[in-house]
Amino acid sequence: MKYLAFIILVNFVFIYSCTDDNPVADRDQELKTLLNQYSNTGDAKWYIMPESDDYENLPNQDVKNPITQAKAVLGEMLFFETGIGVSPKKTMSMETYSCSSCHVPEKTFTAGRFQGIADGALGFGSHGEGRAINPWYDGTEVDAQGARPLPMVNLAYVRNPLWNGSFGSFGLNVGTESLWGVADTLTKINKENREGLEAVIPRALVVHRQVINKELMDKLGYTNLFNKAFPTVPVNERYTMRTASDAIAAYFRTILTNEAPFQKWLKGDNNAMTDDQKEGALLFFGKAKCVNCHNSPSLNGQRFAAIGVKNLDQMNYLVYKTNDGRSNGRASFTLNDNDLYKFKVPQLYNLKDVGFYFHGSSKTSLKDVVKYFNNGLPENPLIPASKIDPFFGPLNLSDLEVDQLTDFLENGLYDANLLRYKPGFILSGNCFPNNDNQSKLDMGCN
Ligand code: HEC
Ligand code: HEC
Repeated sequence: MKYLAFIILVNFVFIYSCTDDNPVADRDQELKTLLNQYSNTGDAKWYIMPESDDYENLPNQDVKNPITQAKAVLGEMLFFETGIGVSPKKTMSMETYSCSSCHVPEKTFTAGRFQGIADGALGFGSHGEGRAINPWYDGTEVDAQGARPLPMVNLAYVRNPLWNGSFGSFGLNVGTESLWGVADTLTKINKENREGLEAVIPRALVVHRQVINKELMDKLGYTNLFNKAFPTVPVNERYTMRTASDAIAAYFRTILTNEAPFQKWLKGDNNAMTDDQKEGALLFFGKAKCVNCHNSPSLNGQRFAAIGVKNLDQMNYLVYKTNDGRSNGRASFTLNDNDLYKFKVPQLYNLKDVGFYFHGSSKTSLKDVVKYFNNGLPENPLIPASKIDPFFGPLNLSDLEVDQLTDFLENGLYDANLLRYKPGFILSGNCFPNNDNQSKLDMGCN
């Protein structure tokens, strides 16, 4: 025993005397060991995301919608296309909004404000923060939801979209078949046996007042792109909400934050992260136990949890109260009391640019989010303590540890080149993400 201790001591002295100017070697190894342990395969490589054009290896594809480049190219333009916004509540708003009105790429595809608004709002500011309600619209006519928009990155790892996970026939929705179309008539689409993205996007197009048909696609110039993307689909079914959705889903699956420092580190570049970021990662997978809920290549989780945060309608800066049931979380879909206040465990990359955190936008910095988890005290007085997840509780991190964990989230998980997923132009030639006069002025777009 004494002999062993001596060897360890000698080794310790040896390592530290030899690696004086590079004492991080052990930290790298320690992190790798933790990752091996938590990965599904016993290998830290499990956390590596594929290249965006490695179509074969993009995860969770819908068997009815294999990804091709032609689909991704079409989907990318349609997502930003203001020319398909032709079903607004008031004709003055024709062709003025798009999916990207609430999913702005510079804001990691969120709204740039606490709540997204598409039809029924004017202006953009520099990246969405300047969008405000159109004075000609009544509050109830505005297209806005009772939860913060989710980022459109790493959706390849999302099998059941939305905060309540109500879409998609597989993943966590296996066993919920009897609910499809009951609690929420929109989820009827799950009966088509599609993956979550293919299920939710047709509904998003309708909810957000957009239209796809042959006449409009001819007018805007998309017919040929549909022909290339869906050559085997019969012509009378080729220019529809369904094909447009499949194209957008293909595009979404290519939007991966695979150039983030943590991804580079996983691929073998030990210098991609700073020592503090590595310490933060060690905390994430170690003492702070974030990995208990956030565990996948995108650091989302295939589960729902109640962590007691405030709802959007409890925040006094809401445009108007939507009361659309979203505050109940997973229970708004399952109608099961056990699911009350449980929300999906979201992905964690590129959050630095989002600016609003949790489903109710109750935090405005990542450091405040980390402090919230560290304190482990629910902030929402309406949620009974019995509903709070057992993995949520005080962590006793020091100020330094809070900073290191924040650094890992802000910078270790930050792909600085996200705009590679934004198109240079859209075929209508309209401005995007928005096309109303105030937005055009704000964006310097004619
Ligand atoms: C008015 C703002 C708004 C517009 C416009 C909008 N979205 Fe969203 N989007 C949201 C909000 C809010 C959520 C989260 C809602 C929820 O989960 O209850 C969301 C969530 C999503 C999700 C789920 C992501 C996940 O991780 O679960 C997808 C996919 C999505 N939107 C795609 C689209 C597409 C495609 C369009 C255009 C057809 C679109 N959105 C237009 C506000 C918007
Ligand atoms: C009990 C499970 C659980 C644990 C443990 C957990 N999280 Fe989460 N996390 C969630 C859920 C659920 C949400 C979404 C909650 C909501 O908005 O209602 C979330 C949201 C977040 C968000 C905000 C994401 C966004 O888009 O708004 C960040 C950042 C985050 N978690 C980081 C962490 C870190 C760092 C740790 C470790 C200190 C951690 N989480 C531990 C379940 C968990």
